[in-house]
Amino acid sequence: MKYLITGGAGFIGSSLANKLVDNGHEVTVIDDLSMGKKENLDTEKVYFIKGDIRDNELMEQVFEKTQFDYVFLLAAIASVADSIQRPIETHEVNLDANLNILKLIKEKQNDIKRVVFASSAAVYGDEPTLPKKENSQIKPLSPYAIDKFASEQFVLLYNNLYGVPASAVRFFNVYGMNQNPESPYSGVLSIITDKFKQKLAGKDAVFNVYGDGNQERDFVFIEDVIQALMLVSESQESRGNVYNVGTGKATSLNKIISIYNDYFKSSLEVRYLPARDGDIRYSASDINKLKSIGFIPKYTVESGIRLYLKNEIY
Ligand code: NAD
Ligand code: UD1
Repeated sequence: MKYLITGGAGFIGSSLANKLVDNGHEVTVIDDLSMGKKENLDTEKVYFIKGDIRDNELMEQVFEKTQFDYVFLLAAIASVADSIQRPIETHEVNLDANLNILKLIKEKQNDIKRVVFASSAAVYGDEPTLPKKENSQIKPLSPYAIDKFASEQFVLLYNNLYGVPASAVRFFNVYGMNQNPESPYSGVLSIITDKFKQKLAGKDAVFNVYGDGNQERDFVFIEDVIQALMLVSESQESRGNVYNVGTGKATSLNKIISIYNDYFKSSLEVRYLPARDGDIRYSASDINKLKSIGFIPKYTVESGIRLYLKNEIY
């Protein structure tokens, strides 16, 4: 099968791309390398295009050259906090570029089997009812969440109005190998892992907790996320639908820090700072809808973190 993955040099996209080429598929990745890295990819097998999804001419060429079976729309400026700093720029990537891609798919990709868009649990905001079901109230608290919800709805609309087969997933907090810790806005587990790397190398390492550390997230391991993406893209029932991707269980940041401390038998220095604007306090998924198409989460937060650290550190 022929796959296109936008943002495919990033954390989730590269894990998906490498898995697909291992299974014998042809994979094209387009990524501007703003957060992703070419080294994440098996470039002997993956066809890599360095480019910006906002570049309409380039996107047109990509869709003219190849008829894809599956398109995964993963390119985004993936940070909630960054979108609050740069709402216009993040909007252009997180919504406008995706809308243009949908238009091109409708015009140029006649045999496409499925488009899958990566939306986010951030769309639910802080309405207190937990766990979040797909039909829970939507209450976006950041430009990122608004753009994710709008893109997701456009994707489903293209399915319903124009017959472009499409689905969306709302990822909760994904972690695992190749998540880039370099930005202050990177995923929190990649930052904690990086701090431990520095500490083990004998450097001073202080981890900043924004808020009191009692905020909770549904942390889901990358391997389970790949399982979910394969199921959603291949199921017939999932067409025109949106699915939560999580574990169904939330963990506080303070608990995560203690899991790391136990693993390394050593305590990370922690500094508590004021909470970030737009930050969500509690987030947890209901994954019964995803389970109904065959999803079985294989990792708890403890077993996922163990495997992550074994691969990244020791
Ligand atoms: P990531 O930052 O590692 O991957 C996104 C990729 O998109 C990066 O490689 C980046 O270089 C690329 N990119 C950014 N702007 C681009 C542009 N203009 N043109 C081309 N490429 C561009 O993030 P990730 O964690 O792999 O997330 C993948 C997707 O899943 C994103 O859409 C993100 O919003 C969504 N998501 C992630 C999480 C999570 O916990 N990691 C949760 C919810 C949703
Ligand atoms: C994350 C994803 C976002 C996704 C959302 C879905 C990233 C960068 N963000 O956002 O794409 O849509 O999950 O649920 O992958 N924190 C600290 N110290 C730090 C960094 C973060 O205390 O150094 C705190 C944050 O304030 C927040 C929590 O840790 O309370 C999680 O932060 P982060 O990993 O950025 O994730 P989300 O904002 O939940």
